[in-house]
Amino acid sequence: MDLDSLTGEVLERCDLLARFTEEPGRLTRRFLTPPMHDVHRTLSAWMLEAGLQPRVDAIGNLIGRRASPSNDSHVFAVGSHVDTVPNAGRYDGILGVVLGIAAMKALAGRSLRHAIDVIAFSEEEGVRYATPFLGSRAVCGTFDPVLLTRHDATGITMGRAIQDFGLDPTDIPDAAYTAGQLRGYFEIHIEQGPVLEALGLPLGIVTAIIGQSRRMLRFTGRAGHAGAQPMELRRDALVAAACFIRRVEQIAQATPDLRATVGNVIVEPGAANVVPGMATLTLDVRHHDDVVRLDVLARLLDEANGLADDRGLGLDSTAILDQAAVPCDVELTERLAIATGTTHRLVSGAGHDAMIMASHCPMAMLFVRSPGGISHHPDESVLHDDVKAALHSTIQFLGERGA
Ligand code: HGY
Ligand code: MN
Ligand code: MN
Repeated sequence: MDLDSLTGEVLERCDLLARFTEEPGRLTRRFLTPPMHDVHRTLSAWMLEAGLQPRVDAIGNLIGRRASPSNDSHVFAVGSHVDTVPNAGRYDGILGVVLGIAAMKALAGRSLRHAIDVIAFSEEEGVRYATPFLGSRAVCGTFDPVLLTRHDATGITMGRAIQDFGLDPTDIPDAAYTAGQLRGYFEIHIEQGPVLEALGLPLGIVTAIIGQSRRMLRFTGRAGHAGAQPMELRRDALVAAACFIRRVEQIAQATPDLRATVGNVIVEPGAANVVPGMATLTLDVRHHDDVVRLDVLARLLDEANGLADDRGLGLDSTAILDQAAVPCDVELTERLAIATGTTHRLVSGAGHDAMIMASHCPMAMLFVRSPGGISHHPDESVLHDDVKAALHSTIQFLGERGA
């Protein structure tokens, strides 16, 4: 199959996988929800067609292996995630997995030195259980079993969700690669931002992934009657949250290169005629310098405490994630640049499984242009020729690295 046709097949396959959703009419596919069975069944067939042997580990990662011709036990992995945010685009994560399979299909006749694993990670976004990177943490042996008791919005624990999917959470430790087994990890991903488009470039080499912190903040006041309760007697949790959200924006705008986001607010009891007694919000803070990120996070938490005190409210803060910035491996990245002929280098503002894999083996990433810089949105798109260039690069790199 020529490169153009193979590229067309990659794009058709991303379209097909986008049909597997929890919500008809929009793409939402969270950790181990039923549509993930459809994704596994479909990807497994494509893996077999590409000469890969598929298996599912205990955290729900789908891994297709092309065995090494020698008895070399080392493995080179390429992958990304197949879970999505709510109302997602069809390329975030998925493109990297489908491209990995396509590259292996193209390399079917080539003798490669190492085994190659194409990994479809089960949970990178952290939507269902508020904790990202579950799949990559399991393969790196850093999954925290305490998380198995965490509940989703419907009260199902993570352990239960894993069992309901037909897996055994007690086997999660077996999902880890042994020390030294992984020779490297390569992830192809859409940029999700405006940089490559602004430069008119199809691809970019990632040099580092910025650090990120996630918190859950709960303001607790007292519910009251919207009509009978005078303003001066109110302890309105949502007004405090709104003041905080504005301060998040002001402090982020005043701090160069900082990105801070309140992505979700849950208001209780949530009726038009009730003064909100409780407001629970998520906070996401990112920066390429960990010192700056942690300093701003501390300032924001002080702001939240000050608002709560001034208004006679309670405040609880739960740490969800503190992930340091991660540099890509210099040697592997240099080889990627040479193998692909891609010159532009950039830092990733988005988090990726690659930042977890970097704790376990050398990691390199290749970005594909995001038209309009749009992502985490159904209008997310890619250009045929950019995907063709990424496919060619992946074939070159995997052929070279695995060789
Ligand atoms: O949040 C992120 O950066 C990624 O999309 N999970
Ligand atoms: Mn994402
Ligand atoms: Mn992603």
